[in-house]
Amino acid sequence: MKKGIIFDLDGVIVDTAKYHYLAWRKLANRLGFEFSQKQNELFKGVSRKRCMDILLEMGNVTATQEQKEAWMIEKNDDYLAFIEEMDDSEILPDVPKMLHFLKDNTIPIALGSASKNAKPILEKVGLLSYFDAIVDGNNVTKAKPDPEVFLLAAEKLGVEATNCIVFEDAVAGIEAANAANMMSIGIGEKEVLSEATFIFKDFTEISINFMNDLIQLEKKD
Ligand code: BG6
Ligand code: MG
Repeated sequence: MKKGIIFDLDGVIVDTAKYHYLAWRKLANRLGFEFSQKQNELFKGVSRKRCMDILLEMGNVTATQEQKEAWMIEKNDDYLAFIEEMDDSEILPDVPKMLHFLKDNTIPIALGSASKNAKPILEKVGLLSYFDAIVDGNNVTKAKPDPEVFLLAAEKLGVEATNCIVFEDAVAGIEAANAANMMSIGIGEKEVLSEATFIFKDFTEISINFMNDLIQLEKKD
């Protein structure tokens, strides 16, 4: 039975959450309020539009749609300035090892990200060629926790949703994978990602044996 692996981008493949944070914090400060790292947790896996609304709720700021659009452009321009400097040193530990393992086992690989900046980021860090399909914020109408992004990725890979395994660092992403009837592997804290099928702090904790077993186990289904 054909299997597929779907990776989230921000916080799974690259450590970009810090740049999203800095860009949102700059906007918050300009609007006259603070924005903490802890508050930034709520932004993980969440679309830009929804992040904008949450930020304004946090700061008790009301704004017209036009104003919100302008601020989102401002935030994204600041974010783009940060990622402009990115290179392969920002790939999270053991991600290339995992990608090589999957390639060696001819397992198709997709990206399932909420970000509209996904492709240029993968290009910058030199990982774009590993991906057989890319689904990002430009291709979906419903944001995570809706399963649309992962279902579309499975479709693009030509793999049944139930045969896909998703790597995610965000609660909304784990919920989306579970709603898509996919196995979810949380990358992060156990307390936060408790709904995931398996949880690891990062890829250095995932052994090749585990991956082999996973593929073997899946193949028996
Ligand atoms: C997700 C991030 O991957 O992409 C979120 O976890 C971010 O924090 C979302 O808001 C949208 O990203 P972008 O690059 O389209 O603003
Ligand atoms: Mg993420």
